[in-house]
Amino acid sequence: MIKVLFVCLGNICRSPLAEAIFNHQIQKLNLPHKFKSDSCGTSDYHIGELPDERSIKCANDHGIKISHRGRQLSHADIRDFDYIIAMDKSNRSNIYKLMDTYSQTHDQIHLMRDFQPNNSESEEVPDPYYGGEDGFEKVYQILDESIKELIAKLQKEHQVYA
Ligand code: 4NP
Repeated sequence: MIKVLFVCLGNICRSPLAEAIFNHQIQKLNLPHKFKSDSCGTSDYHIGELPDERSIKCANDHGIKISHRGRQLSHADIRDFDYIIAMDKSNRSNIYKLMDTYSQTHDQIHLMRDFQPNNSESEEVPDPYYGGEDGFEKVYQILDESIKELIAKLQKEHQVYA
């Protein structure tokens, strides 16, 4: 099992959407038995909450089911997950801070947009929380493109094919 964790700030907008898109793509590839995914936030703002209704609508508009309850990143996650994918640099530095307490290497931490092909726009998945619905659609497109490439890289690296 390859374990992948998606991380944002609140765990109600970007990372649960990333997790749902990842699961959807893995399903289409007939590979669910090879991967385990989850998402969490670096903050404790929305623990126990369902995803933001705009993330739910956006996922549903693309035929994707999304169900998750907000939870906060813990040290156990850093021990348990092989790949930890941060949505932006602020999320990443929050992850580093938690790790530095335990003097761990940063090898398993990645930025989502590092996987997006031909991206010269930004290194970050923008936080859509304070914007409108169109921000969620933009996030969806970024995540969809990035996650396709992430999965292709994981398949190649671990030689996992259906
Ligand atoms: P997310 O978006 O990190 O993509 O889940 C946010 C959700 C909530 C807040 C900020 C960002 N907040 O400040 O409550």
